[in-house]
Amino acid sequence: MNKLELHDSDGKPKAVMLSERVHWVGSLDPDLRTFDIILKSANGTTYNAYVIRGSEGVAVVDTVKEGFADDFFSRLESVADYSEIKVIVLNHLEPDHTGALPELMKRAPQAQLYISQKAQSMLKALLKQDEMSYTPVLTGDRVSLGDRTLEFLHTPYLHWPDTQCTYLAEENILFSGDVFGCHYCDNRLFNDHVGDFRFSFEYYYAHIMRPFKDYVMRALDLIEPLPVTMIAPTHGPILRDRPDRYVRRYRQLSSPSLASEISCDQKTLLIFYISSYGNTRRMAEAVYAGAMQVPDVRVSLYDLEGGEVDPFVDLIEEADGLIFGTPTINGDAVKPIWDLLSSLTVINIKTKLGGVFGSYGWTGEGVPLVEDRLRGLKMRVPIPGLRVKLIPTDEEIQACHDFGLELAKELMGLRSQKVLNFADLA
Ligand code: FEO
Repeated sequence: MNKLELHDSDGKPKAVMLSERVHWVGSLDPDLRTFDIILKSANGTTYNAYVIRGSEGVAVVDTVKEGFADDFFSRLESVADYSEIKVIVLNHLEPDHTGALPELMKRAPQAQLYISQKAQSMLKALLKQDEMSYTPVLTGDRVSLGDRTLEFLHTPYLHWPDTQCTYLAEENILFSGDVFGCHYCDNRLFNDHVGDFRFSFEYYYAHIMRPFKDYVMRALDLIEPLPVTMIAPTHGPILRDRPDRYVRRYRQLSSPSLASEISCDQKTLLIFYISSYGNTRRMAEAVYAGAMQVPDVRVSLYDLEGGEVDPFVDLIEEADGLIFGTPTINGDAVKPIWDLLSSLTVINIKTKLGGVFGSYGWTGEGVPLVEDRLRGLKMRVPIPGLRVKLIPTDEEIQACHDFGLELAKELMGLRSQKVLNFADLA
């Protein structure tokens, strides 16, 4: 009952109907297990592309990855002649969607290519064709196919800066690019027929969309007012059964979850440390005590030896400031600190406040190395890292206390700016 015919009686790939005028012409990649180096997939993915037929021409929305083009062209040919193609839309230029573009443009040279404004430089860099002609579009721009109209929504960073969605107003279909997609290959194609893909949908959001939650919210502001009866993403199931659920889920996943715990007048400051002989721990406790002196700063202290990384990443995402305490071993910060820092690529930590401290025995490179990393992640690191050789003295413990105090004041905007004294320059 759920079987879809993806091939004709000769075994040739053929298009699948979404509506009278809209067809899926994508490719299946059931063997893919790793995408973009970091994403896993237990059963592959799909590269979804679509054909829309208007009274005055045909549009192709997105193409497929190189190596999967034969199926795409075969399906395309089953519903349109190349001479009918008036419009090609690329919602996103990553190679899994542009692999078949050069060949498509050769076969349909009369077609006009539409990409987002931000995609222009990427198009040249990816396809190495200076002479390629295209029309850049922004939110609200439209292209007519006669009795069908495509409208563009600029949705940057979902997943690259170039990304956009395309809305087919007469049919309430949103061609969403990577947004609302997932790496889940099932030849039944539609969300009301395929297997349970909820895990893939959430996993895909967590790795692709989560670092750009602010942009997700802005995209949802464009999408939510539209009547949408079907979402046609570039990967995974086509969402025709209650597509609004997926829009709502994106809104939920992109909204702060700590809001109910932390009052809007408060700032959160998290201190993570790890300690070999208790010296960095003593420093951490003094930093913590100092930070606690500042009203309305909600300070938390965590020993990385006793925690898993993932829950900490969730906390860090919504924190205002982060302080890391690390010993130096063999000229480096220690692995649990690096493991935590390397896990932060799935969230946005730009402009958060940062600080580093730690005890060392010989040379103390761990603290400046972590400081460099925080700056590389575009955090603010306003106070130089604090290092103590071996066991901290009472004066050094006081310095740790002051370090925490100053960082907490900085967080609340209470720290006096250093005034340049011209006499010092003499
Ligand atoms: Fe499916 Fe970001 O490419």
